[in-house]
Order: sequence, then C-alpha cells, then structure tokens
Amino acid sequence: MYTSKITGLGYYVPENVVTNDDLSKLMDTNDAWIQERTGIKERRHIKKGDGNSTSVMGVKAATIALDRAKLLPNDIDMIVFATLSPDMYFPGGGVEVQEMMGMRTIPALDVRNQCSGFIYGLSVADQFIKTGMYKNVLVIGSENHSGGLDFTTRGRNVSVIFGDGAGAAVLSRNEEGSNGILSTHLHSEGAHKNELALQGPSTAHWVPEIIAENPQENIPYYPVMNGQFVFKHAIVRFAEVIQEGLDANNLEVKDIDMLIPHQANLRISQFIQHKLKLTDDQVFNNIQKYGNTTAASIPIALTEAWEQGKIKEGDVVVLAAFGSGFTWGSAIIRW
Ligand SMILES: CC(C)(COP(=O)(O)OP(=O)(O)OC[C@H]1O[C@@H](n2cnc3c(N)ncnc32)[C@H](O)[C@@H]1OP(=O)(O)O)[C@@H](O)C(=O)NCCC(=O)NCCS
Repeated sequence: MYTSKITGLGYYVPENVVTNDDLSKLMDTNDAWIQERTGIKERRHIKKGDGNSTSVMGVKAATIALDRAKLLPNDIDMIVFATLSPDMYFPGGGVEVQEMMGMRTIPALDVRNQCSGFIYGLSVADQFIKTGMYKNVLVIGSENHSGGLDFTTRGRNVSVIFGDGAGAAVLSRNEEGSNGILSTHLHSEGAHKNELALQGPSTAHWVPEIIAENPQENIPYYPVMNGQFVFKHAIVRFAEVIQEGLDANNLEVKDIDMLIPHQANLRISQFIQHKLKLTDDQVFNNIQKYGNTTAASIPIALTEAWEQGKIKEGDVVVLAAFGSGFTWGSAIIRW
C-alpha cells in the first residue's frame, strides 16, 4: 500500500485588516472583551471590489502550494475543496478551482464539515493516494465569512470571531521513506447540529419564506452559536481525538513536535495545551491575526509554522479540529 505526504503548502488572506476597534464602530463590543474571551486582535475581511471570493482565495493559496510542490496544474489528479461559505449554493468551489487553474477534467469533491473540513479533506485525499488511485491531490480550505455575518450587536458573539482566508496543501504519493500522513481520525455527533449552525437559505428555510415569516430580529440566515456549549464540547473532543491519533501510532504526548489546532479560540487552544501539558513550543497559534477561518485555519497555520521553520523533517506534527456538526478529527503526520 502507498502512503501520502504533504509536498506543498500555501495560504492567502485578503489585505483588508479589520481590528477589534473597527468592529466596535459597527456593534456594541470592545477590544478588551474580544481579546479576553477569544485572543483575537484582528482578522481579514474581503473588501468589496478586491476580486476575492471563496474560490478565488482558494486558487491563490493553491497556486503557492503547487509551486512549492514543483507541480503544474495538470499534475493534479483530484481537487478536494472544504468550505462552509461557497460562492454558489451549487455547484461547489471545487469545479471553480478546476476551471480557474485550467486543470484537466479531474474530479472535484466538495467537503462540508465546517471547522473540521480540512482534516476531513486531508483524510479523503490520503485514502485515494493509499489505494493507488491518484498520485497528487490538492486539498483546499477556504472561507468568506465576512460576506454572511451579522455585524450588528445582535450577531456580536459570532461575528467578532470569524475571518476570511484560504489555505491549501498538495498531498502526493510517497515514493520513498516512511514519513507522511500516518493516520487520520474522524468523528461526528449530529445531536448537536443546532448549537452552531446557519439554517438557511436551504430547502427547509427558503428565502421568500424566511423573509415573510421572520421579523427582522430573528433571521435564520445568519449563523447562530451557543458559545459556552461549543466551548465545553470542543475541549473534550480535541483532547480525545489527539489522544486517539497518538494511541493509533504508539506515540505519546511528549513525542508531539508541533500541534496545529484548528484556530477556534485562543482559550480553547490554551486549555488543550494545559490539559496535555504541552510547552509553548509544541503548539502553534495565529488566531490573534486572522480570527477563526474555519476550514482554512489549519492549512493557514500549518503553512505559517512551516514557513517560520517550526516544522522540520522527521517531526511528529498533529493536526486537530472541532466544529459545527458537531464534527471533529485529527491527523498524525511524520514530516
Ligand atoms: C463565544 C465566546 C467567546 C463567548 O464567551 P462567553 O464567555 O461564553 O460569553 P457569553 O456567551 O456567556 O456572553 C457573556 C456576555 O458577553 C456578551 N457578549 C457576547 N458577545 C460579545 C461581544 N462580541 N462583545 C461584547 N460582549 C459580548 C453577551 O451578550 C453576554 O452578556 P450578558 O452577560 O449581559 O448576557 C465563547 O463562548 C467561545 O469562544 N465559545 C467557543 C466558540 C467557538 O470556538 N466557536 C467556533 C468553534 S469551531
């Protein structure tokens, strides 16, 4: 059986920086509250007219990743595109990437697993490479949150957290050596689907009905989140799924060279770090600069950690995510 390894990484974030003070001009919030509860100082938002969209940002990140993998668009055998904020209701972003990058008529699969989307996508790509079906798979996580958030006080518990951006990884067949993706671990618990959700527009919540039936105060086409409930489940599931991955590979917490947690909230990352007794050097966080970019957060953080020389050949790198669904997962990598 083949194994797969990451051969190229890239990320893109819009130029437009939105600080906590900027948000406090739109809603009743403040820098101290946001930093204390989430660790976020600023995030990036697409600016009207800057040409960005979920798929466009995905292409920008993917172009860098392909370049670093020393591959051309025609070398890619499959696209896996993870997002909760696609440009269109259908089709998904994968086919847009295929078109914009001028790729062959390769398969394009869209993944809808929110904050766990990149790990789900990585796992799918890994399986296709392991079976020998494909040699190079492009995995993208990209989000345009700012296009669909409630920037009034009503939506402040959600809208201060999320930011826009994209990250991409090229997964390639490992021709030699035993490094690469060691294992991936995926979970879901639909019983909690409403705790962090955007109900419409959807077939159950069609736009004309929403507008007719709902007073302005309670519009279900903005995301809603039960923050404390999400927090409590996140800290349990993150720790569980990291341990599951370590156990599957006969590794211990002390063997982790770098943990890249999905950037949900700095307090969640710190809680996990404390629970697992990891040092500051063993955990990478960049939520302070970008907020929570959902499916894009892990590939953006992984790329930055790698660019900063914090990940070296032979290192044990652990990716872990938790989010809406609930869904959660981990990937254990020997770099
Ligand atoms: C969202 C989160 C930061 C809120 O922090 P919290 O300590 O749970 O705060 P609460 O929701 O209990 O709200 C406390 C108060 O702050 C207020 N508040 C909410 N958002 C605010 C904001 N942006 N600015 C100022 N005040 C705010 C609330 O209205 C509430 O006021 P009240 O006490 O007068 O009713 C926190 O619950 C969290 O991070 N949860 C996890 C979310 C997450 O990670 N989501 C992504 C998962 S992938």
